Amino acid sequence: MLDLNQLRKIFIAVLLILSSCDTSEKQEQTYKIGFAQAMTTDNWREEMNRAMKVEASMHPDFNLQIKDAQNDVAKQIKQIEDFISKEVDVLIVSPIQSVPITPVIEKAMKAGIPTIVIDRKIEGSNYTAYVGANNIEIGKNAANYIVSNSKPNQEVELIEITGLQTSSPAFERSQGFHEVLAYHENTKIVATIAGDWEKTSVGDNLKSILDSVGSTDYIFAHNDRMAMGAWEIARSKNLEDSIQIIGVDGLFGPNGGIQLVKEDILTATVLYPTGGAEAIKLAVQLLEGDQIDKNNILNTVVIDEMNVDIMQNQFNKMNQQQNDIEQQQSVIREQITTYNSQTNLLKIMVGLILLLLLLGFWAVYLVFKLKKRKRILELNNEKIITQRNQIEKFAEQLKISNEVKINFFTALSHEFKTPLTLITSAIESIAQNHHKQLKDFSYETNLISKNSGRLLRLINELLDFRKLESGSFRLKPLKTNLYEFIKNIYQDFETEAIRKSIDLDLAANNKEIIVYIDRDMMDKVFFNMLSNAFKFTPKNGQISIKIEKTGNNKVEVRFKDSGIGIPKEDFQKIFDPFRQAGNNTKPSSGLGLYITRQFIELHKGSISVSSHQGAEFRIELLQGKNHLSEYLFSEDTSEIENEKSEMALQPKFIPEELPQSLIENAETILIIEDNEDLSYLLKKRLLGDYQVKLSDGTDAISKALEIIPDIIICDINLPEKSGFEICKELKSDLRTSHIPTLILTALSDEESRIKALKAGADSYISKPFRGVLAQLCLLLLPGVPPGEENFSFSFHWWLSPTLADLQI
Ligand code: FRU
Repeated sequence: MLDLNQLRKIFIAVLLILSSCDTSEKQEQTYKIGFAQAMTTDNWREEMNRAMKVEASMHPDFNLQIKDAQNDVAKQIKQIEDFISKEVDVLIVSPIQSVPITPVIEKAMKAGIPTIVIDRKIEGSNYTAYVGANNIEIGKNAANYIVSNSKPNQEVELIEITGLQTSSPAFERSQGFHEVLAYHENTKIVATIAGDWEKTSVGDNLKSILDSVGSTDYIFAHNDRMAMGAWEIARSKNLEDSIQIIGVDGLFGPNGGIQLVKEDILTATVLYPTGGAEAIKLAVQLLEGDQIDKNNILNTVVIDEMNVDIMQNQFNKMNQQQNDIEQQQSVIREQITTYNSQTNLLKIMVGLILLLLLLGFWAVYLVFKLKKRKRILELNNEKIITQRNQIEKFAEQLKISNEVKINFFTALSHEFKTPLTLITSAIESIAQNHHKQLKDFSYETNLISKNSGRLLRLINELLDFRKLESGSFRLKPLKTNLYEFIKNIYQDFETEAIRKSIDLDLAANNKEIIVYIDRDMMDKVFFNMLSNAFKFTPKNGQISIKIEKTGNNKVEVRFKDSGIGIPKEDFQKIFDPFRQAGNNTKPSSGLGLYITRQFIELHKGSISVSSHQGAEFRIELLQGKNHLSEYLFSEDTSEIENEKSEMALQPKFIPEELPQSLIENAETILIIEDNEDLSYLLKKRLLGDYQVKLSDGTDAISKALEIIPDIIICDINLPEKSGFEICKELKSDLRTSHIPTLILTALSDEESRIKALKAGADSYISKPFRGVLAQLCLLLLPGVPPGEENFSFSFHWWLSPTLADLQI
């Protein structure tokens, strides 16, 4: 990723590109030319400046700077020093006066700055070059012109008007003028006026001279401005036609000398070129390393009526050309400016495009990076959510599992209570009737034996479960005839089948099927299958066992009953430990089917269930030994005969019919209980005092309506409806609502008490109960024993809740 440093570098690079845009002109004008101009009060000086600028403009790499001293010597010295300190490449000076300016020019030379002197001179020759016309010659030209225009032997009178005496042109022009006239005796300078180059210095002096001399033939003024001043004085005296005036400079343009000649104001003017263009040319040559002359003398010529037109034409043309050049240059300058600005614009645009591209790339890069980060965050988030969900699910499962386990152990505890109740009741019965013979207690001893077996089975189931959970079960496979093995177990249930009028059937398409099984385990499996079938099959139902060889080495054993069946959604649940699924309201540990499946799977077999008019369990087993290669085998089949199922050990008991005389005239009690042992035990205990009717729960309501008993004793866990439901139904029916109802249950917890009350029960009895059942029945019946008149059920229930725990 680009960091701030990299970004800063990019910006600097772009800025450099942009900043390079406006340096083009400066880079080309690398040379500085400083021009110290004496003054700019007249046209001649302006022309000099203009010529310099025009010439400098031809060289874009030269920068000309003009400083105007305004005829002030001190100022000019300061300006030159300024140029020296700025280290100009070439210095050009037009000195106001010779002597005072000389030292500062020497200083410039000493500083190594090439110095060009123009027009007026300085003292000595310590300068690089001089540019200007020869002023002595100018003076001579003027004198020669006068002489040549005079008639031979004609006396010619002259007045000379000089420039500023301390400037070299004035001195030299005078010198040349006098030199020529010295040879012509007829010429006579009648007066000399010391001017200062300006018209104002002429007026009064000339007027007084003319006043004294009357007139003169010629006036030679050192420049055209002073010549014009002389003409104005002459005209004021009407002498303008008689005095011929000659000036110097010969400037082109309005008020210039050429114009004055054309207008006959001046007789002639001596051309004195400014030398501006030549000075720049010399500077260029100097800086380009060319050799230049020290004295660069410019040509001069006398302009009078004879050549003024030619000169004017020439100047016109020159001027025209000059203007054209200037125009072209201005066009070029404009184009250069346009070009430069367009180039700059282009560079700026290129720079900006570059910047935009960079920012674009950067933005794209950032977008990708952000997307990537976002994706990572989303993935993390998803992970966290998944983990959280898993934890929640796990916690929920744990909670359910805990609840299920607690329920399981609670149910299991109660499951222990029923056989314990029966055992203790039987023992109590024996104890109370100690005068009887032991043979008279066959029912009680059978009951004790049967329920001890039941307890043992429950405990074994628990131990098996524990063993399965710890994975410590080892198979001891024995070669076994499957049909014989199952037949053995089947026989144990035959008596039960007769008692319940159940059609029990065993069939096999091959009675010689041999399997290798752990007989202990498979005995429990098949016994469990049958005992389940019996548990859920009503009287007159059917239970069938089918043994079939289904494949090369596969065997299937199917247990089908005509009971209440199992809902489809519970097909898997019924094999879970701790869960009692389906329509099962029968008491059981809830471990039987789980252990069954585990045992079958230890044999590499499988178990499945289907339900259609009852339930059908299919057990598939493999033949041969290959699938059990990890275990030790025994080929001995003899043990089968000795094997006895648990059922075989259980007491066989068929309730005996009680004598009719005992039950005549007695109060009627209806006992609703599906455990036949318990219902019989109750009946036995109450008979004599009461007429006892029994219902296994399936016909509870119809029996109650048919008999209209005096008391109803009802269990909770019943096959079709719970005891609470039956009680509620009876209590909401006008025909039975008056009948005192006792809930008989192993569940002694608070919740069940409340449930019983809500269902309308008058009381409940917790198992195990002892011998107060008959007394309780008495309390609930009309005709309470003397002294206990107020001891109605509802009264005792509300005032003395502990009585609810009465043990029979
Ligand atoms: C201009 C001027 C010219 C003259 C020259 C002499 O300032 O006065 O008229 O020829 O200077 O330096």
